[in-house]
Amino acid sequence: MRKAAFPVLAATFLLAGCGGGKGGTNASGAKVFASARCGGCHTLSAAKSNGQTGPNLDAAKPSYDAVVRQVSNGGGGMPGFSGRLSTGQIRDVASFVAASTKNNSAALTAFHPNHEQLSDCDYACYKQAFGNIAYYDGPETALARLASAMRTNQQVNSGCHQIAHEIGHAAYVRYHDHAAQALANGSMTCWSGYYHGVIERAFGGIPRSKVASIARSLCTGKEINKTYFLLYQCVHGLGHGLMIYSLNDLPYSLHVCDQLATAWDRSSCTGGVFMQNFLPGPMQLTPTKWLSKKDLLYPCDKVKDRDKLYCYLMVTSRILPAVHYDFRRAAAWCRKAEKGWVPTCFQSFGRDASGFSVQSPRKIAQFCRLAGSMERECIYGGSRDLTSNDAGPARAIKMCLLAPAATRSYCFYGIGTILGSFANDTGARRAKCAPVPAAYRRDCYRGARA
Ligand code: HEC
Repeated sequence: MRKAAFPVLAATFLLAGCGGGKGGTNASGAKVFASARCGGCHTLSAAKSNGQTGPNLDAAKPSYDAVVRQVSNGGGGMPGFSGRLSTGQIRDVASFVAASTKNNSAALTAFHPNHEQLSDCDYACYKQAFGNIAYYDGPETALARLASAMRTNQQVNSGCHQIAHEIGHAAYVRYHDHAAQALANGSMTCWSGYYHGVIERAFGGIPRSKVASIARSLCTGKEINKTYFLLYQCVHGLGHGLMIYSLNDLPYSLHVCDQLATAWDRSSCTGGVFMQNFLPGPMQLTPTKWLSKKDLLYPCDKVKDRDKLYCYLMVTSRILPAVHYDFRRAAAWCRKAEKGWVPTCFQSFGRDASGFSVQSPRKIAQFCRLAGSMERECIYGGSRDLTSNDAGPARAIKMCLLAPAATRSYCFYGIGTILGSFANDTGARRAKCAPVPAAYRRDCYRGARA
């Protein structure tokens, strides 16, 4: 969870999109669509328009580039708009039209690998080049290279979400349309764009009536059930995907999660739903209704009891951007959580301290001091995020040793809960705790159920 990138990326993402610094927010695109009266001639359900002069855009599903071309130049009975709309407005309306129609498309074009490489890429070929890496060398490699390129290449950084989507599309082809395998081999790089890409393919063009049964079978099978870690990635990715599929219909997405086989599946899935809901606005296909400006704990304080755990485990991802990453104010919000859920909110706080500091053990420990009496919950959330992010305990151990002595045993217990998910048999789970200092190894074993 590269939360640290939020402030930078949220600002630069307006430049992002597929190829050549395109993109824009859907809200502004929808405004342009209305003010330029596109709807007078076109039917587009996302804009609630039913014009009949031009083609039905829901059916035509034009690509981003096609809309830019058509709106700029006009033709075939449609006026050109390049004199009346700014370049930015044309981009916005194009991303709005492309994004709001592609989600109901059965005919998404599949990824086609070729031999384009990252070296000497211009922006337009980055998506293809990263897709090629995913197709030939696997999505983990592609995502790791994406994460490192984001640090040095501004074009890649601002377009990372679309690139990650494309990595997902390519992985879907690599794994022969086997979504579970593709989901299990991904990571959250750049706001989980990878999972979005995979799910876009898995649910593309599927009617709502079939979604629940596909969801139930998606994360099953040998490869996925090898470890809880993989299974978690898959089911959690499914939660993200349901929100993307339903254009942020939160009750619907939770309802589909609720139909999964086990309680563990159900709660992991709801985690993905809430995390997707809490992504910053520019990262959403359509804005979510399930946030409140006044009540930053919403909707956690309103959802059903069974959905609260994962909502509160994610809620600081909503609070922090809203308070401009002022961790002190975020802590004040957590203290206002409903009775019984304050500790969970502070676990989320620790998770975000880890993301925000780009997994710096020292900084996490510092942020957690702001949690006061809830410091141990924060430390626990931080140690779990570190272990999960690193897929190993090295930095988490470092953080536990920096944390106050009173929180340490809980901290190592947290490491154990993640390490335990990396292996299925007891002996192997126990072995994972070997790097933990002897004095705390028992805590790790306890966490790992070993
Ligand atoms: C006066 C009516 C009119 C208005 C206003 C209008 N269009 Fe069109 N549009 C048309 C017609 C007619 C066509 C068919 C052009 C052709 O067949 O070549 C078309 C074609 C298109 C296409 C190509 C669809 C395809 O089949 O791939 C897109 C995309 C499009 N319009 C988007 C827009 C957008 C966005 C706006 C607002 C900025 C807009 N249009 C405003 C009449 C209009």
